[in-house]
Amino acid sequence: MKAVEISSGVYWVGAIDWNLRDYHGYTLPGTTYNAYLIVGEKVALIDNTYPGHEKQMIERIKSIVDPKNIDYIIMNHVEKDHSGALPLLQKMLPNAPIYCTENAVKGFGKHYDTTGWNFKTVKSLESLSLGNGKTLVFLEAPMLHWPDSMFTYLAEEKILFPNDAFGQHIACSERFDDQLGKEESFKHAQKFFANLIVSLAPRVLKKFQQVTDLKIEIKMIAPSHGIIWRSYAGDIVNAYANWSLGKSRDKVTIVYDTMHGSTDAMAKMLAEGVMAEGVEVKVHILKDGKHEGTHRSNVVTDVLDSKAILVGSPTLQNQMYPTVADFLCYLKGVEPGKLAQKKIGCAFGSHGGHGGTIRQISDELKAAGIEVINDGYEVYYKPDEAELQKCYEIGRDIARRIKAM
Ligand code: FEO
Repeated sequence: MKAVEISSGVYWVGAIDWNLRDYHGYTLPGTTYNAYLIVGEKVALIDNTYPGHEKQMIERIKSIVDPKNIDYIIMNHVEKDHSGALPLLQKMLPNAPIYCTENAVKGFGKHYDTTGWNFKTVKSLESLSLGNGKTLVFLEAPMLHWPDSMFTYLAEEKILFPNDAFGQHIACSERFDDQLGKEESFKHAQKFFANLIVSLAPRVLKKFQQVTDLKIEIKMIAPSHGIIWRSYAGDIVNAYANWSLGKSRDKVTIVYDTMHGSTDAMAKMLAEGVMAEGVEVKVHILKDGKHEGTHRSNVVTDVLDSKAILVGSPTLQNQMYPTVADFLCYLKGVEPGKLAQKKIGCAFGSHGGHGGTIRQISDELKAAGIEVINDGYEVYYKPDEAELQKCYEIGRDIARRIKAM
């Protein structure tokens, strides 16, 4: 296994996890755990791998230096997908200092037996010289996304190592944005942001301001998942700024499940109404694991750049469908209400008895920070022609409203 030189004396020595398909509720085509070896007069290793993938990293390091010659371990984040090799590294390098934040020391103590580990805590703008024109500067980034998080900046090469930020969950042979292609790189970055970063948007904007104030020039962004941004570093920073502000398109996301086809018919007519106004619409049917359906993590990716979200469900034992409840629970965790530009939404569905599911959905949408614009629309059993026409008109109304936003 080989390392990949990403800049003079800077190597990607990470692990590719080709088989990962679910990571805390997020569906993904594998991922990478990126680790970086910085070789000056001294050698530093930034971040490492999920447990079980240590060997891949060690083999790549061996293609450059003997791992026993690593002088410093830099830990940007506690979470196990970046720290899982620490117990092994401790056995190999028992005296190597581990540079991390004070919060990280506490976090590592809850994950591992850290007795005897040689922690060196750092604060923002403290630095570590590796010699030979290689200086690491640390920048604390609390709650981006854990209390322990920090970024590391290689000053002379102008490379930012921001750990999870700017990452993407994708397993691929390409290491750089221009190799994978801009469209594909941004597609995965958007999904990552939509699922994992939206609730942190205000902190992202604040951190951007700090970096701007410090006049730190960034030529390359080397996150700890996915490809490295070298050709589109400026574009991904701009995209993060726009996503964090909640900048969205004239686009509607419709998400629903159906029991006997009634809610499905309503969803399709809502979509027709939206399209009649010339507005983009994405339609997602949710299904349980036994059937073909859209995964919740793909729906929220569309929600990110939509101005409106319409959520539909049949009524099952006086409750919304479990798949819809699952999605709304996930949406509340994503917290689109944290974005500066608000989104509008409404509920729809069918029932065969008392109804009331649309009230439950509306309440959940409000809890997620969506501005609910009406009482929702619910039909008894199967929608007739007049009721389908009403769905069509609701779709048109939503489209007109978002064009005016
Ligand atoms: Fe917060 Fe990729 O771990």
